[in-house]
Amino acid sequence: MEKVTETSAIEIISLAELNEQELKVMKAAKEISEKAYAPYSNFQVGAAVLLENGEILQSSNQENVSFPAGVCAEQLVLGYAGANFPDQAVKILAVAARRRGEKIWAQVSPCGICRQNINEVELRFRSAIRMLFLRPDGQVYRVDGIQHLMPLKFDDLIS
Ligand code: THU
Repeated sequence: MEKVTETSAIEIISLAELNEQELKVMKAAKEISEKAYAPYSNFQVGAAVLLENGEILQSSNQENVSFPAGVCAEQLVLGYAGANFPDQAVKILAVAARRRGEKIWAQVSPCGICRQNINEVELRFRSAIRMLFLRPDGQVYRVDGIQHLMPLKFDDLIS
């Protein structure tokens, strides 16, 4: 038997340690979470991306009375980026979430389907995405590339 140990590099850093661009994208994620349509979960998520050309795009989660038809904020913003800016790699993805009516931010990190979507965008542009997830203590998880969130991911239809 062979045992394989995969390591994930995930940083926990304060907002003060983010660079100007990272801070801007996180601010955009926080801001757009206010516009979430989340009447069923009350979990209001904002996601923002920085494209290669400097453009920042934002989206929130959009739920549905038929629960599985709802769409996560990350999936929406990445889909919008791909549909409207097909030549622009995504450099940074920031995510922030808050329960309706609460002041403190909630813990958030992308679900499995969103991770697979992030993976696809990385494959599409052959470019790792820097990810920032806000924590309730005001610090941020910073991850460079989906590999760190999804070891042994499926990404090759050829071999
Ligand atoms: N959700 C997101 O939009 N992004 C995440 O990273 C976690 C979950 C949404 C899906 C659903 O509308 C609500 O949050 C509760 O799961």
